[in-house]
Amino acid sequence: MNFHHKPVLIKESIENLITDQDGIYVDATFGGGGHSYAILNKLNQKATLIALDQDKESIKKNFIIDERFHLFHNNFIHIRDILNHNKIDKVSGILADLGISSLQMDNPIRGFSNRFNCLLDMRMNTESLYSAQNVLNEYSKQELFHIFYEYGEFKNAQKIADKILKKRLKKNITTTWDLVHLFFVKGSFKKRKRFFARLFQSIRIEVNNEINVLKNFLLESSKIILPKGRIAVISYHSVEDRIVKYFLKKGIITNQINFQTIPFRMIHKKAIKPSFQEIINNPRSRSAKLRIAEKT
Ligand SMILES: C[S@@+](CC[C@H](N)C(=O)[O-])C[C@H]1O[C@@H](n2cnc3c(N)ncnc32)[C@H](O)[C@@H]1O
Repeated sequence: MNFHHKPVLIKESIENLITDQDGIYVDATFGGGGHSYAILNKLNQKATLIALDQDKESIKKNFIIDERFHLFHNNFIHIRDILNHNKIDKVSGILADLGISSLQMDNPIRGFSNRFNCLLDMRMNTESLYSAQNVLNEYSKQELFHIFYEYGEFKNAQKIADKILKKRLKKNITTTWDLVHLFFVKGSFKKRKRFFARLFQSIRIEVNNEINVLKNFLLESSKIILPKGRIAVISYHSVEDRIVKYFLKKGIITNQINFQTIPFRMIHKKAIKPSFQEIINNPRSRSAKLRIAEKT
């Protein structure tokens, strides 16, 4: 199959996720449909796959027609409501392949990439009212600092926030290249590429409220997976991976919420990473980390 988005760690995620071929599964991040397609190939005729994506473009491009398959335009934070609405109480497994797809990244008008000059948008759900322009032009210095420090892990987060504040006093920052032109990154092409990738990613995380949504999704998932059912999460940066790892390993989601009994048991102590061959075939897979856990 030729997918719009090359699915990452496909064999590793599907083999570990499916424990009951007649079960009900959720692909929380449909994207280009590669994982959903592979899950359906592994399931029996009696099984069900519910898939979600908060991006309408991804839903529109769906190519899977299968009685066992049900696709919804929704945010995975609402996973429990969506299942309840479909008269489903518990599931055998949930997959989440976090972040954005190539469909989004390579779209020259969505604002996810500094390769294209367009309006600073970065909304995965284009119905949401809140874009990267709101973040860059309306956030306080402290709020901007928080984004660059926490989500971009920039040591010089203060300096980045200062530059944005100084620029917007004269003129709003409206396009991707307005943002790019604010920064001169010394050093190699690789260093420059990495800087902008982290800068764009940190803003995208804020625009889509990705950290809060992920935490709530993990909590909700722990309530709807059957005992011995599994959760598989693929993350692409350390901020996300840390949240997933601590929750699956220790049941800790924030400093306050601490389960008396840990809801999951890790299947592999360490995260599964793409092979050298996969990274050659799909360089976008290089930072992927897959963590799998079983409901206790
Ligand atoms: C990395 S891609 C998934 C690729 C997919 N596994 C495949 O094989 O093509 C991530 C997808 O998840 C969607 N997404 C991200 N966060 C979401 C959320 N909170 N709720 C629903 N969909 C989300 C994005 O819109 C994007 O389409």
